[in-house]
Amino acid sequence: MPDAAHQDVERAAAILRAGGLVAFPTETVYGLGAAARDPAALTRLYAVKGRPSDHPVIVHVASAADLPAWAADVPPAATALAERFWPGPLTLVLRRAPGVPNAVTGGRETVGLRVPDQPLALALLREFGDGIAAPSANRFGAVSPTTAAHVRASLGDDVDLILDGGPCAVGVESSIVDLSDPAAPRLLRSGGVGADELAAVLGTVPEPDTGPARAPGMLAAHYAPRARVEIRGDGEALARAVREHSAGTGVIAPASVAADLPDDVVVLGRPADAEAYARDLYALLREADDRGLARVLAVPPDPAGIGLAVRDRLARAAAAG
Ligand code: TXA
Ligand code: MG
Repeated sequence: MPDAAHQDVERAAAILRAGGLVAFPTETVYGLGAAARDPAALTRLYAVKGRPSDHPVIVHVASAADLPAWAADVPPAATALAERFWPGPLTLVLRRAPGVPNAVTGGRETVGLRVPDQPLALALLREFGDGIAAPSANRFGAVSPTTAAHVRASLGDDVDLILDGGPCAVGVESSIVDLSDPAAPRLLRSGGVGADELAAVLGTVPEPDTGPARAPGMLAAHYAPRARVEIRGDGEALARAVREHSAGTGVIAPASVAADLPDDVVVLGRPADAEAYARDLYALLREADDRGLARVLAVPPDPAGIGLAVRDRLARAAAAG
């Protein structure tokens, strides 16, 4: 790591130790970080996010060796998932260790943990030396940031420092697996690790469970730009929709989807595959707002691998409509 970057990391760790807020890149989206054992810092974090205080927040750690500091017990399935996917876009929900602040767990008996796969994030975690609580670095309900500029646009001066690690490589949030009952793994949020990949390690497909009681904060209407998002199943449905009305309309569709589009339609993105769709999605939704578009028509990718997470986020953005 270059000297300048290392100095930024040292400054960021000092700010966290003093109870401040630091936005930092992860491979999924930018996080808004606070010292996870500092209740006053967490209060400020929730205020800046505009997020209800009973919503739990993910604790980021430097490696799986830190799990016992946060989780009361680490079942073999958690160890297996951590070995396979960490550092990486997977959050494990485990029974919490004694002393984990209620401000982190939302008052629950469980805690969400993850090791991010991003050099600056890992350097910050090592330098700080303890867990960093970090939700996505956007205001509650809005589109998650995948660049430092997105964070600045959302949070401005409410954050003490923004570490700039360039655009996020994955682009959608981590998958969340609840192993607090190891006999019944649950998928609370689809994300960067595909359900098929999780099943290969767990030996069973984790039961999808996105009910409000399980993962508060997973609201139906979330991840929404100001533009109205509408989903169209294929190229034909897309073409029909723009024939009816094209002014102020942007389109996101897989490159493989053929559609004859009028000239006044703004083609926001034609991602080559589900990975590119995930990486670009949030920036494209923000671009729609920057261009003042009234609506975005999106044809989702196939529901395999990370495509499932893209479909989930599009459905939530559309529900806000
Ligand atoms: O990729 C990510 O996970 C990003 C980056 C910054 O790491 N973080 C992120 O955090 O998406 P946030 O706060 O925007 O979403 C965290 C989700 C929420 O829906 C929350 O309810 C759930 O994780 N969660 C956290 N701890 C939990 C717990 N103990 N039980 C159930 N759900 C939990
Ligand atoms: Mg979020």
